[in-house]
Amino acid sequence: MDRAAIQAIKERLDIVDIVRRYVELKPVSGRWMGLCPFHNEKTPSMSVNSEEGFFYCFGCQASGDIFDFYANINGLEFKDALEQLAAEAGVELTPGKVDPGAAKRSSERKIFMEMHELAAKYFARMLKLPEGRTARKYLERRGLASSVIDSFGLGCSTDDWQGLEKFLISKGYTADQGVKAGLLSQNTKGRTYDRFRGRLIFPIKNLSGRVIAFGGRVITDGEPKYLNSSDTPIYKKGDHLYGLSTARNSIARTKHALLTEGYMDVISLHQFGYTNSCGVLGTALTPDQVKRLSGFCSKVDLVFDGDSAGVKAALRSSEMILTQGVSCGVIVLPDGEDVDSILQARGAEGFQVFMDQARDGLDFALATLQQGFSPRELMDWAQGFLKKMSSASLRAFYLPKVASGLGMAEAELRSVFSSALSSPVQPQKQPVRKAVPQSAGPVGAQVKDDKYFLRYAVKHPEYVAELSERGIAQVLTSHWGKKLWSLITAHSGQDIMSFLDDSEKRFYASCRMEEALSGSELEDEWRHVCRVIARRRYDTGRKKLTDALRRAQAEGDMGRVSAYLKVLNDSVWRDDEQH
Ligand code: GTP
Ligand code: MN
Repeated sequence: MDRAAIQAIKERLDIVDIVRRYVELKPVSGRWMGLCPFHNEKTPSMSVNSEEGFFYCFGCQASGDIFDFYANINGLEFKDALEQLAAEAGVELTPGKVDPGAAKRSSERKIFMEMHELAAKYFARMLKLPEGRTARKYLERRGLASSVIDSFGLGCSTDDWQGLEKFLISKGYTADQGVKAGLLSQNTKGRTYDRFRGRLIFPIKNLSGRVIAFGGRVITDGEPKYLNSSDTPIYKKGDHLYGLSTARNSIARTKHALLTEGYMDVISLHQFGYTNSCGVLGTALTPDQVKRLSGFCSKVDLVFDGDSAGVKAALRSSEMILTQGVSCGVIVLPDGEDVDSILQARGAEGFQVFMDQARDGLDFALATLQQGFSPRELMDWAQGFLKKMSSASLRAFYLPKVASGLGMAEAELRSVFSSALSSPVQPQKQPVRKAVPQSAGPVGAQVKDDKYFLRYAVKHPEYVAELSERGIAQVLTSHWGKKLWSLITAHSGQDIMSFLDDSEKRFYASCRMEEALSGSELEDEWRHVCRVIARRRYDTGRKKLTDALRRAQAEGDMGRVSAYLKVLNDSVWRDDEQH
């Protein structure tokens, strides 16, 4: 791990600024507080410590440093969070030496990102040039405002087969790189050419707002209507949502997202003030996409077309959202209309009428299924739906609702599924580090005792050296406590967070969030800590002696027996003598 870079990023970026992008923070008696994005709550219990660079939720114990927050809320792995924050902070990451393949992949990704950035500029400029006249006219006819054309970075490509290719080569890239980046295509004879020709171009961005792929719509007629980038090292279909980087602030603020199917629909929604909108990019909604959204919202409203394809997609998507524990509403538009056509024809007010008629996601799913499904299919669906729940508690929550939706008694449904439901919750692909691990961390009396000392050390780092001298290391009994103590002594005063695992972070952050003692209270506590350490050391010493005494007795070594007895008799615990 690139410790120097981690350090440099933490120095340049303030965790408060990052958290603020997703959560409104208010100063409360010297610290920043906000609604925790990692669990549902109405009163703020997440605290962010700018100086020491960590956050801690008093409600769900989610905690960590700037990388943990960024990774968890964006559904990223640590490595990606590091890369993105490094880019923001302008910190160069030295590629890890351990895996030369990884270094190569990472520099390749960087190059592909640069190429996409350049291509986006190329397409956007084209839209302003005389060559972009047809596309401009088309956008005008569709009623798109220049504000959203700019904020979504729309562009166009001409019919030229080598326009972008020549441009990329002029910037020092090779045609081969263009093909690997998904910007150029290659025929069987090896000839390369622009993938997107004669199309309106929609840049697809990642959560950091960097262009990673494109969608292209035919401007007049042609097939296919939409052409998207294929999968590349920087873009995987089903991982991203269209417009999410633009919508995320609004989503985080309102805890509510609008999800629709089309590029045009997303852009129109933003134009008409629904800035919390994003799109699924022409694939079925995936668990990864829902996770990405659930990091900062608690409710997703689906707005889908009223044709049979739209209803089917709404059904599958609502199922996906509900099983991930996110609330879901469904708006099915009249057949033949889509979001964009309604907004353009009736404005935000006209569209809001439909929004106000949103149906509860589960009600919608059950009602839709009951129309076309046989009882047997219906029961199969219900069983699958409950099995897919991402946790047992979620399943417990939905079981009675599903039962009543099917007109059954809860007990009846429970017994039908008893075998299915007693099987464990389906393991889920979990690429994302969870903010709150299921296990409550270390348990047991030993850890609890150790925590008493460690809490004091974390709250009052100025005492670490003295605790060490007093032999706290001999007093700690749990593996967990010993490990944390060694980390504290090794990294005291530096960026210790980067070295802690999840349970250590949780403990450390919670201690730092407590008010440090001062004055006579601190002195009293310090005396107590010293007394307990001394007593523990005395007890361990005596235990060693009595063990040795017992061994000497067993061996019949009377000389050693009497020597041990003398020491034992002389060493009497006197509480007042210890300091
Ligand atoms: P307009 O027709 O211009 O209003 O676009 P739209 O965004 O409303 O498109 P439509 O409702 O036809 O399709 C919804 C979404 O499905 C699109 O935005 C694309 O993401 C996707 N899609 C539609 N047609 C195609 C296609 O031919 N190929 C691919 N890959 N995706 C498509
Ligand atoms: Mn449309």
